[in-house]
Formats: sequence, structure tokens, C-alpha cells
Amino acid sequence: MKVLCIGDIVSDTGREYLARHLRPLKKETGADLVIVNGENAALGNGVDRDSARDIFDAGADVITGGNHSFQKKTAEALLEETPFLLRPANLGDTFGRGWCRIEGRKRDVLVVNLQGSLFMPPVRNPFECIEKLLEKEASPRDLIIVDFHAEASGEKQAMGYFLDGRVSLLFGTHTHVQTSDETILPGGTGYITDIGMTGPVYSVLGKNAEAAVHNFRYPDDRVPVRDAPSPCRLSGILADIDEITAKCAGVTKILK
Ligand SMILES: [Fe+2]
Ligand SMILES: [Fe+2]
Repeated sequence: MKVLCIGDIVSDTGREYLARHLRPLKKETGADLVIVNGENAALGNGVDRDSARDIFDAGADVITGGNHSFQKKTAEALLEETPFLLRPANLGDTFGRGWCRIEGRKRDVLVVNLQGSLFMPPVRNPFECIEKLLEKEASPRDLIIVDFHAEASGEKQAMGYFLDGRVSLLFGTHTHVQTSDETILPGGTGYITDIGMTGPVYSVLGKNAEAAVHNFRYPDDRVPVRDAPSPCRLSGILADIDEITAKCAGVTKILK
């Protein structure tokens, strides 16, 4: 099974770019399943009705979230009514879901979204959360894929080893910078610390560099950041998962 995972879509520029490039990319790669992180897809971060619809219309099967999942006021209702739009599972008892199951012919795919605990808004311990979630929800028929939305590379690597051999793929999101450490861990789990973002190339995390520089220089005189202009780039990975063994056969980075 070929799984395409696309990093954080930034605002309408990222959404438009995704809409133009995802279908040709699906065709080119033969992807069976597409997972897109959408936590920054709405104007000014977060996800709302329009941005979720755009990403699904572009060809995503599942949209994952992160620390910005609840930024928009409408997100609570939207997450409640959209089963394939996830928010981190370790946010506790709140609106929406942290995992979903895609039914397949040979295997089902359990997609889980988690948030890191280091240098991020407080969440329940992601290691304890996934341990309980797998115990309670995973079936032997499932191929398991985790989007670990986290800041610290060490926390993501530790999660990779914690889940090695128990999930088919663990990819990181949130930093908006694609890492070069894609690998298959010893137990057969496909891993990458961060798949990067889909949005403006000349930017600071997708926002205009001028404002970002100003805010770092003058923290007491902050100005609002805006979306940076095009050109855009799409960042992600293509993972090849063996449906018999549930092990990952390869992780290939995508920059387009
Ligand atoms: Fe994030
Ligand atoms: Fe993000």
C-alpha cells in the first residue's frame, strides 16, 4: 500500500498549490491513501470549513491537526461532524477525534494524530496516550500510521523507537522544515522526524519574513504576520507499506 503524507498546508496559498498538484502526484506515485496535515490551512492558522473542504476536494482522505486545531471558533463543530478530520488524540476529552479507521480490501488503516509535549501547549503524555489507544482501538487487521505533531526532534525520535514494530509508519509534522532522516527502523516502522510544509518558499514557517524578523528583533513591539507570497512548494513523503507484514518497505521524500 502506498501512502502519501503531505506536510502542513499553509493558508490559501498552500491550499491552492495543493489543489493543483495533489491529483497529478497521486497518479504519478500510485498512492492508495493520502494524509494531509491541515492545522495551518485556514487564514491565520487553524482549520475551518472552507479549508477542510478544499483539502478533501484536492484529494485527501484524512486531514490531521496539531496545536492549532482549535484556533478557529468553528473548529469544535467541524471536528465533531467530520470523522476524517483529526485533532491530536492526547488533547483529552474534547471535541472531535484523535484517530480514524479507513476500511480497505486486505487491511484497514488506523490513522492516529498525536501532539508532542516539549516546547508546545500542554497535552497529556503522548507515549501513555498511544499505548492506551493501541491497546483499546487497534485490531490485528489494522495497518497503523501516526502523525506525531511535535517540536522536539528528540521526542519524535523517541516515539519512533517506542512504536517501532508496532506501527507501520510514524511521520512528524509541525516544524514546517523537512528533515533528511527518513528511514526504516529495526522493527520495520517507517520513520521521518518531519515531512515539512506546503506553502510559500520564501517565508518563515509560511509567514512573511519581514514581520517575523521584526518580531524577533523587537519582541516588545510585535507586528502581525501575514501569509508570504508565492512561489510555493509541496513537502511530504511517499511510504510503501507491505500489507502482509505491516512493515514499511520504503520512505521517499517528496519536494514539489
Ligand atoms: Fe503545529
Ligand atoms: Fe504547522
